[in-house]
Amino acid sequence: MGSYRLNPLLPRERIASIVQHLADQISKDYGGRELVLVCILKGAFMFLSDLVRLLKVPAKIDFVRLASYGAGMETSGIIEITKDIEIPVEGKDVLIIEDIIDSGRTLQFLKERLSLANPHSVKICALLDKKARREVAVEADYLGTEVEDVFIVGYGIDFNEDYRHLPEIYYVTPIG
Ligand code: IMP
Ligand code: MG
Repeated sequence: MGSYRLNPLLPRERIASIVQHLADQISKDYGGRELVLVCILKGAFMFLSDLVRLLKVPAKIDFVRLASYGAGMETSGIIEITKDIEIPVEGKDVLIIEDIIDSGRTLQFLKERLSLANPHSVKICALLDKKARREVAVEADYLGTEVEDVFIVGYGIDFNEDYRHLPEIYYVTPIG
C-alpha cells in the first residue's frame, strides 16, 4: 500500500456557505410539511448535523446504514441495508441526506426502498456530486456542489475509515 497526499478542495467557509444555501432552499420548500430527514451513515453525519441546525422548519431525523460490499475507492453495486429507519414514513415527506453521489446506485436503491413505505414524497439532498461517474439515472433535488472525478475525504467522508473527522474537504492523490 502506497502513501497518499490530501489536497485541499473545499475549506470550512465554503462548506458553511453551501450548507446554509441548502438549508435555506429546504426551509422554503418544506414549510407546513411533515419532513423526515433520512441520513445515510456514516459519511453524511457531519453534513446532517450542520444542516439541521440551520433549518427553519421542524424535521424528524432518522438514519440508515448501507453496506456496499468492498472497501477502498470503488463501490461494488451490490447494496444492502444493515440498519433501517425506525420512524414510520407513510404519508411523510422524506428527504435523504447523502454525502456524495458517485455511480448513483446507493441512492437509486435507497429511494426505491423508502418508496415502498408509501411516503408522500422522497427527495435527495447531497452535498457533493461526481456527475461524470454516474451509472444510473438518479439526481439530487438539492445539491451542494459538483466535483471532478477525484477521491474525496473529510467532513464525514472516509478513505477506509480514516479522515472523517476533518472539518475541511480534500481530494486524495497517490504519492510517487
Ligand atoms: P454510489 O452508490 O456509487 O453513488 O456511491 C456513493 C457512496 O460511495 C457514498 O455514500 C460514499 O460513501 C461512497 N463514495 C463515493 N465517492 C466517494 C469518494 O470520493 N470518497 C469517499 N467515499 C465515496
Ligand atoms: Mg463510504
